[in-house]
Amino acid sequence: MGKDVIIACDFSNAEETLSFLDRFETERPFVKIGMELFYAEGPEIVRQLKARGHRIFLDLKLHDIPNTVKKAMSVLSRLDVDIVNLHAAGTSAMMRAALEGLTRPDGSRPLLIAVTQLTSTDEATMRRELLIGRPMDEVVMAYARNAAAAGLDGVVCSPLEAAAVHESCGKDFLTVTPGVRFAEGDAGDQKRVTTPARAKELGADYIVVGRPITKAEDPVAAYRRCVKEFVE
Ligand code: C5P
Repeated sequence: MGKDVIIACDFSNAEETLSFLDRFETERPFVKIGMELFYAEGPEIVRQLKARGHRIFLDLKLHDIPNTVKKAMSVLSRLDVDIVNLHAAGTSAMMRAALEGLTRPDGSRPLLIAVTQLTSTDEATMRRELLIGRPMDEVVMAYARNAAAAGLDGVVCSPLEAAAVHESCGKDFLTVTPGVRFAEGDAGDQKRVTTPARAKELGADYIVVGRPITKAEDPVAAYRRCVKEFVE
């Protein structure tokens, strides 16, 4: 899989999502569907976007006992999504079960990536509430290595962590990175941001871009600019 730009379709319903995607006449962007849209519209939104030719990263971040995750993943693999994810905190046993569930009878399967620590969790909270007393980067890398050892394809991380993840888990281990902004753009609630061009230099494999595209005056132009900076 080559480098690509994934648009985070953080819309609350199918109508908004489809009218946004209707603006793209020549491209069929790779899209990310998160919990809000999936819980509002159900699997049908995935089928609709697939039928329109989009590749899909289904961002549902599964975390449960291995058997439950395995069965849920098997349902998702029948939806023909391209990337799905889970929490590495669910343990190696859960990650291995997820892979088993995802694998279709013909041996094919969507890519499976792991969330390490959510970017909304800081080191102090991790220590106080999760009782994990190690530095954040150490925890993130350890979780990434667990994911790689379990056979997963990659992690969601900051572009700033992409090089360290590749060094630790291999260059083919995918880094899917949100927190991307244009140089002159508004960071919004994202704290550590990089431009698409910088994410490319840092070795990210996929960038996930939401508001810089969805809220742009001309979303198609913003998407093309991301592709130009990151892919070409
Ligand atoms: O609008 P923006 O470009 O900030 O969107 C980034 C997308 O990536 C959102 O869907 C957000 O939930 C997701 N994400 C993130 N940081 C993470 C994991 C996912 O921003 N660590």
